[in-house]
Amino acid sequence: MKPKASSRATITMMAAAVAVLSVWSHPASAQVAGQWKDPNHVYAKICSNCHDIGVGPVIKGRNLDPDYYFQVVRHGMRAMPAFRPTDVDDAMLHRLAETLSKSAPPGGPK
Ligand code: HEC
Repeated sequence: MKPKASSRATITMMAAAVAVLSVWSHPASAQVAGQWKDPNHVYAKICSNCHDIGVGPVIKGRNLDPDYYFQVVRHGMRAMPAFRPTDVDDAMLHRLAETLSKSAPPGGPK
């Protein structure tokens, strides 16, 4: 027969494991500034979802002013939602704006 004490210990250990796992999973799922590798990462994960599929206009290769990108992303524009500093921080948004301003049109220069 199994002694009762050992099954109580097993339950205690399992409860501790669940507690540790729920603490661990938190930072990984949180949306924090500094999550982006580079401007292309931001474009691929956010902008391309609309701007590469025709929901929004093409925004690459149009020689738009970097500040224009910055303002549109931060404040939104008609059908385009605004993105907060917790989505893309100022420093990364500036880099993204510079990159897009100088980018080639999709499909390469004509
Ligand atoms: C949920 C879809 C969506 C996402 C995501 C999105 N946009 Fe847009 N964006 C739009 C739409 C729609 C418009 C057109 C707004 C209008 O004119 O009503 C637009 C317009 C723009 C414009 C103005 C283009 C012009 O012709 O004047 C810029 C610049 C822009 N977006 C940049 C970005 C950048 C940079 C990102 C990524 C950080 C981004 N957008 C993410 C939907 C999106």
